[in-house]
Amino acid sequence: MFRVKMEPVHTACALLCLAPWLVRGLPPIWTQPEQVHLSYPGLAGWMEVTWTTFSKTDSTVEYGLLGGRLFDMSARGNSTLFVDSGDEKRQMYIHRVILTDLKPVATYVYHCGSDEGWSDVFYFTALNDSALFSPKFALYGDLGNENPQSLARLQKDTQLGMYDVILHIGDFAYDMHEDNARIGDEFMRQIQSIAAYVPYMTCPGNHESTYNFSNYRNRFSMPGQTEGLWYSWNLGPVHFISLSTEVYFYLDYGLELVFRQFEWLEKDLEEANRLENRAVRPWIITMGHRPMYCSDDDQDDCTTFDSYVSEVQGWLIHSPNDLPNLDLFYRYGVDLELWAHEHTYERLWPVFGDKVYNGSKEQPYVNPKAPVHIITGSAGCRERTDKFNPNPKDWSAFRSTDYGYTRMQVINATHLYLEQVSDDQNGKVIDSLWLPIARLIRQMYIRRCYC
Ligand SMILES: *[C@@H]1O[C@H](CO)[C@@H](O)[C@H](O)[C@H]1NC(C)=O
Ligand SMILES: *[C@@H]1O[C@H](CO)[C@@H](O)[C@H](O)[C@H]1NC(C)=O
Ligand SMILES: *[C@@H]1O[C@H](CO)[C@@H](O)[C@H](O)[C@H]1NC(C)=O
Ligand SMILES: *[C@@H]1O[C@H](CO)[C@@H](O)[C@H](O)[C@H]1NC(C)=O
Ligand SMILES: *[C@@H]1O[C@H](CO)[C@@H](O)[C@H](O)[C@H]1NC(C)=O
Ligand SMILES: [Fe+2]
Repeated sequence: MFRVKMEPVHTACALLCLAPWLVRGLPPIWTQPEQVHLSYPGLAGWMEVTWTTFSKTDSTVEYGLLGGRLFDMSARGNSTLFVDSGDEKRQMYIHRVILTDLKPVATYVYHCGSDEGWSDVFYFTALNDSALFSPKFALYGDLGNENPQSLARLQKDTQLGMYDVILHIGDFAYDMHEDNARIGDEFMRQIQSIAAYVPYMTCPGNHESTYNFSNYRNRFSMPGQTEGLWYSWNLGPVHFISLSTEVYFYLDYGLELVFRQFEWLEKDLEEANRLENRAVRPWIITMGHRPMYCSDDDQDDCTTFDSYVSEVQGWLIHSPNDLPNLDLFYRYGVDLELWAHEHTYERLWPVFGDKVYNGSKEQPYVNPKAPVHIITGSAGCRERTDKFNPNPKDWSAFRSTDYGYTRMQVINATHLYLEQVSDDQNGKVIDSLWLPIARLIRQMYIRRCYC
Protein backbone atom coordinates (compact mmCIF):
# COMPACT_ATOMS: atom_id res chain seq x y z
CA MET A 1 0.00 0.00 0.00
CA PHE A 2 1.05 3.58 -0.52
CA ARG A 3 -0.37 6.73 0.97
CA VAL A 4 -1.61 9.71 -0.96
CA LYS A 5 -0.81 12.96 0.87
CA MET A 6 -3.29 15.56 -0.35
CA GLU A 7 -6.11 17.84 0.72
CA PRO A 8 -9.14 15.75 1.72
CA VAL A 9 -11.18 16.87 -1.24
CA HIS A 10 -8.38 16.04 -3.62
CA THR A 11 -7.83 12.77 -1.88
CA ALA A 12 -11.41 11.82 -2.50
CA CYS A 13 -11.07 12.78 -6.12
CA ALA A 14 -7.82 10.92 -6.49
CA LEU A 15 -9.30 7.83 -4.92
CA LEU A 16 -12.31 8.01 -7.17
CA CYS A 17 -10.16 8.46 -10.24
CA LEU A 18 -7.95 5.62 -9.11
CA ALA A 19 -10.87 3.45 -8.11
CA PRO A 20 -10.99 1.19 -11.13
CA TRP A 21 -7.24 0.79 -10.94
CA LEU A 22 -7.37 -0.02 -7.22
CA VAL A 23 -10.14 -2.54 -7.67
CA ARG A 24 -8.57 -4.33 -10.57
CA GLY A 25 -4.96 -4.01 -9.44
CA LEU A 26 -2.07 -3.79 -11.83
CA PRO A 27 -1.49 -7.19 -13.34
CA PRO A 28 1.82 -8.61 -12.16
CA ILE A 29 4.33 -9.53 -14.80
CA TRP A 30 3.32 -13.13 -15.27
CA THR A 31 5.52 -14.94 -17.72
CA GLN A 32 5.71 -18.14 -15.70
CA PRO A 33 4.03 -21.04 -17.55
CA GLU A 34 1.23 -22.84 -15.69
CA GLN A 35 -1.74 -25.14 -16.37
CA VAL A 36 0.41 -27.44 -18.51
CA HIS A 37 -1.49 -30.22 -20.25
CA LEU A 38 -1.05 -32.69 -23.11
CA SER A 39 -3.35 -33.85 -25.85
CA TYR A 40 -2.96 -36.23 -28.75
CA PRO A 41 -3.40 -34.46 -32.10
CA GLY A 42 -4.38 -37.76 -33.72
CA LEU A 43 -1.27 -38.32 -35.83
CA ALA A 44 1.24 -41.06 -35.08
CA GLY A 45 4.30 -39.71 -33.28
CA TRP A 46 2.67 -36.41 -32.35
CA MET A 47 1.87 -34.84 -28.99
CA GLU A 48 0.57 -31.35 -28.26
CA VAL A 49 1.56 -29.31 -25.21
CA THR A 50 -0.79 -26.52 -24.10
CA TRP A 51 -0.19 -24.04 -21.26
CA THR A 52 -1.07 -20.59 -19.99
CA THR A 53 0.80 -17.39 -19.19
CA PHE A 54 -0.78 -14.07 -18.29
CA SER A 55 1.86 -11.98 -20.02
CA LYS A 56 2.82 -12.50 -23.63
CA THR A 57 5.82 -14.74 -24.16
CA ASP A 58 7.20 -17.05 -26.83
CA SER A 59 5.96 -20.65 -26.95
CA THR A 60 8.67 -23.26 -26.84
CA VAL A 61 8.90 -26.86 -25.67
CA GLU A 62 12.38 -28.23 -24.97
CA TYR A 63 12.48 -31.99 -24.69
CA GLY A 64 14.63 -35.08 -24.91
CA LEU A 65 14.52 -38.81 -24.42
CA LEU A 66 14.50 -40.01 -20.83
CA GLY A 67 18.05 -41.06 -20.01
CA GLY A 68 19.42 -39.06 -22.94
CA ARG A 69 20.64 -35.50 -23.01
CA LEU A 70 18.00 -33.26 -21.45
CA PHE A 71 16.31 -30.73 -23.71
CA ASP A 72 18.43 -31.51 -26.76
CA MET A 73 15.39 -30.95 -28.97
CA SER A 74 13.07 -28.02 -29.12
CA ALA A 75 9.84 -27.15 -30.89
CA ARG A 76 8.11 -23.82 -31.28
CA GLY A 77 4.47 -22.98 -31.53
CA ASN A 78 2.46 -19.89 -30.81
CA SER A 79 -0.08 -18.47 -28.44
CA THR A 80 -3.56 -17.07 -28.76
CA LEU A 81 -4.88 -14.29 -26.59
CA PHE A 82 -7.96 -15.46 -24.69
CA VAL A 83 -10.05 -12.64 -23.25
CA ASP A 84 -12.61 -13.98 -20.81
CA SER A 85 -16.05 -12.42 -21.19
CA GLY A 86 -16.54 -11.77 -17.44
CA ASP A 87 -16.61 -8.21 -15.97
CA GLU A 88 -12.87 -8.05 -15.58
CA LYS A 89 -12.20 -9.14 -19.14
CA ARG A 90 -9.22 -11.10 -17.85
CA GLN A 91 -6.62 -11.85 -20.45
CA MET A 92 -4.41 -14.86 -20.78
CA TYR A 93 -2.22 -16.37 -23.43
CA ILE A 94 -2.84 -19.98 -24.33
CA HIS A 95 0.30 -21.52 -25.80
CA ARG A 96 0.25 -24.50 -28.11
CA VAL A 97 3.22 -26.47 -29.36
CA ILE A 98 3.03 -29.69 -31.35
CA LEU A 99 5.86 -32.18 -31.03
CA THR A 100 6.27 -34.44 -34.06
CA ASP A 101 8.47 -37.40 -35.04
CA LEU A 102 8.30 -38.87 -31.55
CA LYS A 103 9.47 -42.45 -31.23
CA PRO A 104 6.53 -44.70 -30.29
CA VAL A 105 6.63 -45.87 -26.68
CA ALA A 106 9.72 -43.75 -25.93
CA THR A 107 9.53 -41.63 -22.78
CA TYR A 108 10.35 -37.96 -23.17
CA VAL A 109 11.24 -35.39 -20.55
CA TYR A 110 10.11 -31.84 -21.30
CA HIS A 111 9.53 -28.39 -20.03
CA CYS A 112 7.66 -25.59 -21.71
CA GLY A 113 7.77 -21.82 -21.72
CA SER A 114 10.36 -19.38 -23.00
CA ASP A 115 13.50 -17.51 -21.98
CA GLU A 116 11.22 -15.53 -19.70
CA GLY A 117 10.35 -18.59 -17.64
CA TRP A 118 10.29 -22.38 -17.87
CA SER A 119 7.76 -24.74 -16.34
CA ASP A 120 8.63 -27.60 -14.03
CA VAL A 121 10.02 -30.69 -15.74
CA PHE A 122 7.42 -33.23 -16.86
CA TYR A 123 7.53 -36.46 -18.85
CA PHE A 124 5.27 -38.48 -21.11
CA THR A 125 5.41 -41.66 -23.14
CA ALA A 126 4.74 -41.27 -26.85
CA LEU A 127 1.74 -43.39 -27.81
CA ASN A 128 2.31 -46.71 -29.52
CA ASP A 129 1.12 -46.21 -33.10
CA SER A 130 0.42 -49.90 -33.79
CA ALA A 131 -3.17 -51.02 -34.36
CA LEU A 132 -2.23 -54.00 -32.17
CA PHE A 133 -1.58 -51.73 -29.19
CA SER A 134 -3.88 -52.33 -26.16
CA PRO A 135 -4.39 -48.82 -24.77
CA LYS A 136 -5.52 -48.19 -21.17
CA PHE A 137 -7.81 -45.35 -20.23
CA ALA A 138 -9.36 -43.63 -17.28
CA LEU A 139 -12.64 -41.98 -18.20
CA TYR A 140 -15.17 -39.87 -16.36
CA GLY A 141 -17.20 -36.72 -16.54
CA ASP A 142 -18.30 -34.04 -14.15
CA LEU A 143 -15.09 -33.34 -12.24
CA GLY A 144 -15.03 -29.98 -10.51
CA ASN A 145 -12.73 -27.60 -8.70
CA GLU A 146 -14.76 -28.06 -5.52
CA ASN A 147 -15.37 -31.58 -4.16
CA PRO A 148 -13.20 -33.32 -6.79
CA GLN A 149 -13.61 -36.65 -4.98
CA SER A 150 -11.76 -38.88 -7.44
CA LEU A 151 -8.91 -36.53 -8.27
CA ALA A 152 -6.34 -37.76 -5.76
CA ARG A 153 -6.93 -41.38 -6.76
CA LEU A 154 -6.67 -40.48 -10.44
CA GLN A 155 -3.45 -38.58 -9.77
CA LYS A 156 -1.94 -41.56 -8.02
CA ASP A 157 -3.15 -44.07 -10.64
CA THR A 158 -1.66 -41.87 -13.36
CA GLN A 159 1.63 -41.56 -11.51
CA LEU A 160 1.68 -45.34 -11.21
CA GLY A 161 1.54 -45.50 -15.01
CA MET A 162 -1.89 -47.10 -15.19
CA TYR A 163 -3.20 -45.03 -18.12
CA ASP A 164 -2.12 -44.12 -21.62
CA VAL A 165 -4.90 -41.57 -22.12
CA ILE A 166 -7.54 -39.84 -19.98
CA LEU A 167 -11.01 -39.09 -21.35
CA HIS A 168 -12.91 -36.28 -19.62
CA ILE A 169 -16.49 -36.51 -20.88
CA GLY A 170 -17.60 -32.93 -20.28
CA ASP A 171 -18.35 -30.69 -17.27
CA PHE A 172 -15.17 -29.20 -15.93
CA ALA A 173 -14.42 -27.08 -12.87
CA TYR A 174 -18.02 -26.00 -12.16
CA ASP A 175 -17.61 -23.64 -13.94
CA MET A 176 -14.52 -22.52 -15.76
CA HIS A 177 -15.91 -19.03 -16.43
CA GLU A 178 -16.74 -18.33 -12.77
CA ASP A 179 -14.87 -15.70 -10.76
CA ASN A 180 -13.75 -14.18 -14.04
CA ALA A 181 -12.37 -17.54 -15.19
CA ARG A 182 -10.19 -17.97 -12.10
CA ILE A 183 -12.07 -21.20 -11.40
CA GLY A 184 -10.97 -22.39 -14.83
CA ASP A 185 -7.38 -21.46 -14.04
CA GLU A 186 -7.43 -23.29 -10.74
CA PHE A 187 -9.06 -26.36 -12.24
CA MET A 188 -6.44 -26.52 -14.97
CA ARG A 189 -3.77 -26.30 -12.25
CA GLN A 190 -5.48 -29.12 -10.36
CA ILE A 191 -5.42 -31.48 -13.33
CA GLN A 192 -1.88 -30.60 -14.38
CA SER A 193 -0.64 -33.45 -12.17
CA ILE A 194 -2.48 -35.81 -14.54
CA ALA A 195 -2.72 -33.94 -17.80
CA ALA A 196 0.93 -32.88 -18.09
CA TYR A 197 1.87 -36.59 -18.16
CA VAL A 198 -0.77 -38.30 -20.30
CA PRO A 199 -2.94 -36.89 -23.08
CA TYR A 200 -6.17 -35.47 -21.68
CA MET A 201 -8.95 -35.79 -24.28
CA THR A 202 -12.17 -33.85 -23.79
CA CYS A 203 -15.65 -33.06 -25.01
CA PRO A 204 -17.84 -30.14 -23.95
CA GLY A 205 -20.60 -30.38 -21.33
CA ASN A 206 -23.38 -28.05 -20.30
CA HIS A 207 -21.19 -26.45 -17.61
CA GLU A 208 -18.96 -25.08 -20.38
CA SER A 209 -21.79 -23.29 -22.17
CA THR A 210 -21.35 -19.77 -20.74
CA TYR A 211 -20.05 -17.24 -23.30
CA ASN A 212 -20.52 -19.76 -26.09
CA PHE A 213 -18.19 -22.38 -24.57
CA SER A 214 -15.28 -19.93 -24.86
CA ASN A 215 -13.35 -21.24 -21.85
CA TYR A 216 -13.60 -24.78 -23.19
CA ARG A 217 -12.79 -23.84 -26.77
CA ASN A 218 -9.78 -21.77 -25.77
CA ARG A 219 -8.20 -23.85 -23.05
CA PHE A 220 -8.10 -27.30 -24.68
CA SER A 221 -6.40 -28.40 -27.91
CA MET A 222 -8.20 -31.28 -29.55
CA PRO A 223 -7.71 -32.77 -33.05
CA GLY A 224 -9.55 -31.21 -35.97
CA GLN A 225 -10.63 -27.66 -36.65
CA THR A 226 -13.68 -27.29 -34.38
CA GLU A 227 -12.01 -26.01 -31.20
CA GLY A 228 -12.66 -29.37 -29.58
CA LEU A 229 -16.43 -29.40 -30.15
CA TRP A 230 -16.38 -32.58 -32.25
CA TYR A 231 -13.51 -34.64 -33.63
CA SER A 232 -12.27 -38.18 -34.08
CA TRP A 233 -8.96 -39.93 -33.63
CA ASN A 234 -7.49 -43.42 -33.67
CA LEU A 235 -5.54 -45.36 -31.11
CA GLY A 236 -4.68 -49.06 -31.20
CA PRO A 237 -7.67 -50.92 -32.66
CA VAL A 238 -10.09 -48.08 -31.84
CA HIS A 239 -11.66 -45.25 -33.77
CA PHE A 240 -12.79 -42.66 -31.20
CA ILE A 241 -15.48 -40.11 -31.90
CA SER A 242 -16.01 -37.16 -29.57
CA LEU A 243 -19.22 -35.15 -29.89
CA SER A 244 -20.89 -32.10 -28.49
CA THR A 245 -24.31 -33.11 -27.21
CA GLU A 246 -24.65 -29.45 -26.27
CA VAL A 247 -25.24 -28.25 -29.81
CA TYR A 248 -28.80 -29.55 -29.33
CA PHE A 249 -29.36 -27.52 -26.18
CA TYR A 250 -27.85 -24.11 -26.89
CA LEU A 251 -29.41 -23.40 -30.24
CA ASP A 252 -28.82 -19.65 -29.70
CA TYR A 253 -25.14 -20.27 -30.34
CA GLY A 254 -25.97 -21.51 -33.80
CA LEU A 255 -28.45 -24.01 -35.17
CA GLU A 256 -25.97 -24.57 -37.98
CA LEU A 257 -23.67 -26.33 -35.47
CA VAL A 258 -26.26 -29.13 -35.20
CA PHE A 259 -26.09 -29.71 -38.93
CA ARG A 260 -22.36 -29.23 -39.27
CA GLN A 261 -21.72 -31.79 -36.57
CA PHE A 262 -24.23 -34.21 -38.01
CA GLU A 263 -22.82 -34.04 -41.53
CA TRP A 264 -19.33 -34.49 -40.17
CA LEU A 265 -20.44 -37.44 -38.03
CA GLU A 266 -22.05 -39.30 -40.87
CA LYS A 267 -18.96 -38.88 -43.07
CA ASP A 268 -16.68 -39.89 -40.25
CA LEU A 269 -18.68 -43.05 -39.51
CA GLU A 270 -18.82 -43.95 -43.17
CA GLU A 271 -15.06 -43.57 -43.49
CA ALA A 272 -14.43 -45.58 -40.30
CA ASN A 273 -16.64 -48.33 -41.73
CA ARG A 274 -14.85 -48.70 -45.04
CA LEU A 275 -13.84 -52.34 -45.02
CA GLU A 276 -10.11 -51.64 -45.04
CA ASN A 277 -10.46 -49.19 -42.13
CA ARG A 278 -12.73 -51.28 -39.97
CA ALA A 279 -10.51 -54.30 -40.55
CA VAL A 280 -7.60 -52.41 -38.93
CA ARG A 281 -9.66 -50.55 -36.30
CA PRO A 282 -12.68 -52.72 -35.61
CA TRP A 283 -13.77 -50.79 -32.50
CA ILE A 284 -15.80 -47.62 -32.78
CA ILE A 285 -16.24 -45.85 -29.44
CA THR A 286 -18.07 -42.56 -29.01
CA MET A 287 -18.06 -40.07 -26.18
CA GLY A 288 -20.50 -37.25 -25.53
CA HIS A 289 -21.69 -35.52 -22.40
CA ARG A 290 -25.46 -36.04 -22.10
CA PRO A 291 -26.60 -39.65 -22.29
CA MET A 292 -29.33 -40.95 -24.56
CA TYR A 293 -30.67 -43.23 -21.86
CA CYS A 294 -30.35 -42.83 -18.13
CA SER A 295 -32.38 -43.62 -15.05
CA ASP A 296 -31.49 -40.92 -12.55
CA ASP A 297 -34.06 -39.01 -10.59
CA ASP A 298 -32.42 -35.63 -10.91
CA GLN A 299 -35.33 -33.44 -12.00
CA ASP A 300 -33.29 -33.03 -15.15
CA ASP A 301 -32.81 -34.91 -18.39
CA CYS A 302 -33.61 -38.42 -17.14
CA THR A 303 -36.53 -37.75 -14.85
CA THR A 304 -38.95 -38.37 -17.64
CA PHE A 305 -37.59 -41.16 -19.74
CA ASP A 306 -38.62 -39.67 -23.03
CA SER A 307 -36.43 -36.73 -22.29
CA TYR A 308 -35.34 -33.96 -24.55
CA VAL A 309 -32.01 -35.74 -24.82
CA SER A 310 -33.36 -38.94 -26.24
CA GLU A 311 -35.96 -37.10 -28.26
CA VAL A 312 -33.86 -34.45 -29.96
CA GLN A 313 -30.53 -36.17 -29.94
CA GLY A 314 -31.95 -39.61 -30.42
CA TRP A 315 -34.06 -38.22 -33.17
CA LEU A 316 -31.02 -36.95 -34.99
CA ILE A 317 -28.48 -39.61 -34.16
CA HIS A 318 -30.11 -42.68 -32.85
CA SER A 319 -33.76 -43.06 -33.72
CA PRO A 320 -34.87 -46.52 -34.82
CA ASN A 321 -38.05 -45.75 -36.65
CA ASP A 322 -38.92 -42.16 -37.29
CA LEU A 323 -35.92 -41.25 -39.37
CA PRO A 324 -34.36 -44.48 -40.58
CA ASN A 325 -31.45 -42.70 -42.24
CA LEU A 326 -30.43 -40.98 -39.07
CA ASP A 327 -29.97 -43.79 -36.58
CA LEU A 328 -26.29 -43.47 -37.19
CA PHE A 329 -24.69 -45.05 -34.16
CA TYR A 330 -26.70 -48.20 -34.56
CA ARG A 331 -26.43 -48.56 -38.31
CA TYR A 332 -22.74 -47.83 -38.41
CA GLY A 333 -22.04 -50.41 -35.76
CA VAL A 334 -20.77 -48.23 -32.93
CA ASP A 335 -19.68 -50.69 -30.23
CA LEU A 336 -19.58 -48.56 -27.11
CA GLU A 337 -21.04 -45.17 -26.20
CA LEU A 338 -19.52 -43.31 -23.25
CA TRP A 339 -21.57 -40.61 -21.52
CA ALA A 340 -21.54 -38.58 -18.31
CA HIS A 341 -23.69 -35.66 -17.01
CA GLU A 342 -25.63 -37.83 -14.54
CA HIS A 343 -23.58 -37.87 -11.35
CA THR A 344 -23.72 -41.63 -11.07
CA TYR A 345 -22.44 -44.73 -12.82
CA GLU A 346 -24.79 -46.79 -14.95
CA ARG A 347 -24.13 -49.72 -17.27
CA LEU A 348 -26.75 -50.63 -19.83
CA TRP A 349 -27.54 -53.84 -21.66
CA PRO A 350 -27.04 -53.46 -25.40
CA VAL A 351 -29.84 -51.10 -26.33
CA PHE A 352 -31.37 -49.40 -29.31
CA GLY A 353 -34.57 -47.38 -29.33
CA ASP A 354 -35.36 -48.34 -25.73
CA LYS A 355 -35.23 -52.03 -26.64
CA VAL A 356 -32.64 -54.46 -25.28
CA TYR A 357 -30.62 -56.38 -27.89
CA ASN A 358 -28.59 -58.86 -25.88
CA GLY A 359 -26.02 -60.94 -27.74
CA SER A 360 -27.77 -63.94 -26.25
CA LYS A 361 -29.80 -64.60 -23.14
CA GLU A 362 -26.85 -66.18 -21.33
CA GLN A 363 -24.18 -63.81 -22.60
CA PRO A 364 -25.73 -60.41 -23.26
CA TYR A 365 -22.41 -58.70 -24.05
CA VAL A 366 -20.98 -61.39 -26.32
CA ASN A 367 -21.60 -60.10 -29.84
CA PRO A 368 -24.25 -57.60 -28.71
CA LYS A 369 -26.77 -56.65 -31.38
CA ALA A 370 -26.77 -52.96 -30.48
CA PRO A 371 -24.35 -50.47 -28.92
CA VAL A 372 -23.44 -50.77 -25.24
CA HIS A 373 -23.79 -47.60 -23.15
CA ILE A 374 -21.84 -46.54 -20.07
CA ILE A 375 -22.68 -43.41 -18.07
CA THR A 376 -19.86 -42.27 -15.81
CA GLY A 377 -20.39 -38.82 -14.36
CA SER A 378 -19.53 -39.30 -10.70
CA ALA A 379 -15.91 -38.14 -10.58
CA GLY A 380 -16.90 -35.46 -8.06
CA CYS A 381 -18.14 -31.90 -8.16
CA ARG A 382 -19.93 -29.37 -5.98
CA GLU A 383 -23.33 -30.67 -7.10
CA ARG A 384 -22.59 -34.00 -5.33
CA THR A 385 -24.03 -37.24 -6.70
CA ASP A 386 -27.53 -37.84 -8.07
CA LYS A 387 -30.28 -40.24 -6.97
CA PHE A 388 -31.74 -43.00 -9.08
CA ASN A 389 -35.26 -43.46 -10.27
CA PRO A 390 -36.50 -46.52 -8.31
CA ASN A 391 -37.99 -48.17 -11.39
CA PRO A 392 -35.42 -48.28 -14.16
CA LYS A 393 -36.29 -49.61 -17.57
CA ASP A 394 -35.21 -53.03 -18.86
CA TRP A 395 -32.00 -51.70 -20.34
CA SER A 396 -30.49 -50.75 -16.98
CA ALA A 397 -27.98 -53.43 -15.96
CA PHE A 398 -26.02 -51.97 -13.05
CA ARG A 399 -26.15 -48.66 -11.16
CA SER A 400 -24.09 -46.98 -8.44
CA THR A 401 -24.22 -43.60 -6.76
CA ASP A 402 -20.66 -43.89 -5.40
CA TYR A 403 -18.13 -41.30 -6.43
CA GLY A 404 -15.68 -42.82 -8.88
CA TYR A 405 -14.49 -43.28 -12.41
CA THR A 406 -14.12 -45.90 -15.11
CA ARG A 407 -11.09 -47.76 -16.37
CA MET A 408 -11.03 -49.28 -19.83
CA GLN A 409 -8.57 -51.37 -21.76
CA VAL A 410 -9.08 -52.26 -25.38
CA ILE A 411 -7.24 -55.54 -25.31
CA ASN A 412 -7.28 -56.47 -28.99
CA ALA A 413 -9.49 -56.50 -32.07
CA THR A 414 -12.12 -58.62 -30.35
CA HIS A 415 -11.93 -57.94 -26.61
CA LEU A 416 -12.54 -54.86 -24.51
CA TYR A 417 -12.51 -54.69 -20.71
CA LEU A 418 -14.06 -52.03 -18.55
CA GLU A 419 -14.34 -51.58 -14.77
CA GLN A 420 -15.82 -49.06 -12.36
CA VAL A 421 -13.74 -47.79 -9.44
CA SER A 422 -15.54 -46.57 -6.33
CA ASP A 423 -13.75 -43.75 -4.59
CA ASP A 424 -16.17 -44.04 -1.66
CA GLN A 425 -15.01 -47.64 -1.17
CA ASN A 426 -11.30 -46.88 -1.29
CA GLY A 427 -10.78 -47.75 -4.91
CA LYS A 428 -12.75 -51.00 -4.88
CA VAL A 429 -13.82 -52.23 -8.32
CA ILE A 430 -17.61 -52.37 -8.03
CA ASP A 431 -18.50 -53.37 -11.58
CA SER A 432 -16.78 -54.84 -14.60
CA LEU A 433 -17.59 -55.80 -18.13
CA TRP A 434 -16.00 -57.91 -20.83
CA LEU A 435 -17.17 -56.99 -24.29
CA PRO A 436 -16.13 -59.60 -26.84
CA ILE A 437 -17.18 -58.91 -30.41
CA ALA A 438 -16.26 -61.26 -33.24
CA ARG A 439 -15.14 -59.89 -36.57
CA LEU A 440 -17.98 -61.68 -38.37
CA ILE A 441 -20.59 -59.78 -36.39
CA ARG A 442 -18.93 -56.52 -37.37
CA GLN A 443 -19.18 -57.41 -41.00
CA MET A 444 -22.90 -57.85 -40.48
CA TYR A 445 -23.00 -54.39 -38.97
CA ILE A 446 -21.11 -52.95 -41.89
CA ARG A 447 -23.44 -54.57 -44.37
CA ARG A 448 -26.37 -53.23 -42.44
CA CYS A 449 -25.04 -49.72 -42.99
CA TYR A 450 -25.27 -49.97 -46.72
CA CYS A 451 -28.39 -52.06 -47.15
C1 LIG B 1 1.10 -21.38 -34.98
O1 LIG B 1 1.96 -22.49 -35.03
C2 LIG B 1 1.56 -23.51 -35.90
C3 LIG B 1 2.54 -24.64 -35.75
O2 LIG B 1 3.85 -24.19 -35.75
C4 LIG B 1 1.47 -22.98 -37.33
O3 LIG B 1 0.97 -23.97 -38.17
C5 LIG B 1 0.54 -21.79 -37.36
O4 LIG B 1 0.55 -21.21 -38.65
C6 LIG B 1 0.98 -20.75 -36.35
N1 LIG B 1 -0.01 -19.69 -36.31
C7 LIG B 1 0.35 -18.41 -36.32
C8 LIG B 1 -0.76 -17.44 -36.25
O5 LIG B 1 1.51 -18.06 -36.35
C1 LIG C 1 3.30 -51.48 -29.73
O1 LIG C 1 2.40 -52.48 -29.32
C2 LIG C 1 2.49 -53.68 -30.06
C3 LIG C 1 1.37 -54.59 -29.61
O2 LIG C 1 1.46 -54.83 -28.24
C4 LIG C 1 3.84 -54.29 -29.82
O3 LIG C 1 3.98 -55.48 -30.58
C5 LIG C 1 4.92 -53.31 -30.25
O4 LIG C 1 6.19 -53.82 -29.93
C6 LIG C 1 4.73 -51.99 -29.54
N1 LIG C 1 5.63 -51.00 -30.09
C7 LIG C 1 6.73 -50.63 -29.45
C8 LIG C 1 7.59 -49.64 -30.16
O5 LIG C 1 6.99 -51.04 -28.35
C1 LIG D 1 -20.30 -20.03 -31.04
O1 LIG D 1 -19.08 -20.68 -31.31
C2 LIG D 1 -19.10 -21.50 -32.46
C3 LIG D 1 -17.78 -22.25 -32.51
O2 LIG D 1 -16.71 -21.38 -32.62
C4 LIG D 1 -19.35 -20.63 -33.69
O3 LIG D 1 -19.38 -21.43 -34.85
C5 LIG D 1 -20.67 -19.92 -33.52
O4 LIG D 1 -20.89 -19.05 -34.59
C6 LIG D 1 -20.67 -19.12 -32.21
N1 LIG D 1 -21.99 -18.59 -32.01
C7 LIG D 1 -22.20 -17.32 -31.73
C8 LIG D 1 -23.63 -16.89 -31.56
O5 LIG D 1 -21.30 -16.51 -31.63
C1 LIG E 1 -30.50 -59.31 -21.27
O1 LIG E 1 -29.62 -60.01 -20.43
C2 LIG E 1 -29.79 -59.79 -19.04
C3 LIG E 1 -28.73 -60.57 -18.30
O2 LIG E 1 -28.74 -61.90 -18.66
C4 LIG E 1 -31.18 -60.23 -18.61
O3 LIG E 1 -31.38 -59.93 -17.25
C5 LIG E 1 -32.21 -59.48 -19.45
O4 LIG E 1 -33.51 -59.93 -19.14
C6 LIG E 1 -31.93 -59.68 -20.92
N1 LIG E 1 -32.87 -58.91 -21.68
C7 LIG E 1 -33.48 -59.38 -22.76
C8 LIG E 1 -34.48 -58.46 -23.40
O5 LIG E 1 -33.24 -60.46 -23.20
C1 LIG F 1 -7.85 -61.10 -27.43
O1 LIG F 1 -7.86 -61.00 -26.01
C2 LIG F 1 -8.63 -62.00 -25.38
C3 LIG F 1 -8.67 -61.68 -23.89
O2 LIG F 1 -7.40 -61.53 -23.38
C4 LIG F 1 -8.02 -63.37 -25.67
O3 LIG F 1 -8.80 -64.38 -25.06
C5 LIG F 1 -8.00 -63.56 -27.17
O4 LIG F 1 -7.37 -64.79 -27.48
C6 LIG F 1 -7.25 -62.43 -27.84
N1 LIG F 1 -7.39 -62.56 -29.28
C7 LIG F 1 -6.35 -62.56 -30.06
C8 LIG F 1 -6.62 -62.71 -31.52
O5 LIG F 1 -5.23 -62.43 -29.63
FE1 LIG G 1 -23.64 -31.99 -17.27
